[in-house]
Amino acid sequence: MPNDFERTVNELQESIMEDARKIYSEKVIERWLHPRNLGRVRNPDGFAKIKGPCGDTMQISFKLKDHKISKIKFLTDGCASSIAAGSMATELAQGERIEEAVEISQQMILDALDGLPEESVHCALLASNTLKEAIRNYFDSKRNDSVKQGDEPIDKKGRIEHAHL
Ligand code: FES
Repeated sequence: MPNDFERTVNELQESIMEDARKIYSEKVIERWLHPRNLGRVRNPDGFAKIKGPCGDTMQISFKLKDHKISKIKFLTDGCASSIAAGSMATELAQGERIEEAVEISQQMILDALDGLPEESVHCALLASNTLKEAIRNYFDSKRNDSVKQGDEPIDKKGRIEHAHL
């Protein structure tokens, strides 16, 4: 039997979820609560960290195998929508050839999430732009034959730290 405290917490949680369901699709809520591909890939082939106009940041790192994205992860300090958008962007990119992954747009992420509230559509743009920037970073690194970042701070290796949208 739940005690009074547990009952209050449960009621509070249920009320938060009720409000969320009025605003967000099931896919968004699911990824907000259980984001896929959360974290950072070690020794990535491509990496970017971008700050959106709202001030929130997102980073994406990935590994390539046979010209396909074999592992991809994201991190964000943003809102529920940015967590869902980062999750979906990495889900869409996983296993794709790099030329296909770079085509993943804001609209594709929005469609895959069954939409976001108008005031949050920029979160999908942040995810799409971060992915594109990480892919650009991969091509730049290849061109410059630069050292892989490992666990070093990104800026020490001359990689993209902040690119404003
Ligand atoms: S990423 Fe800034 S409000 Fe969602």
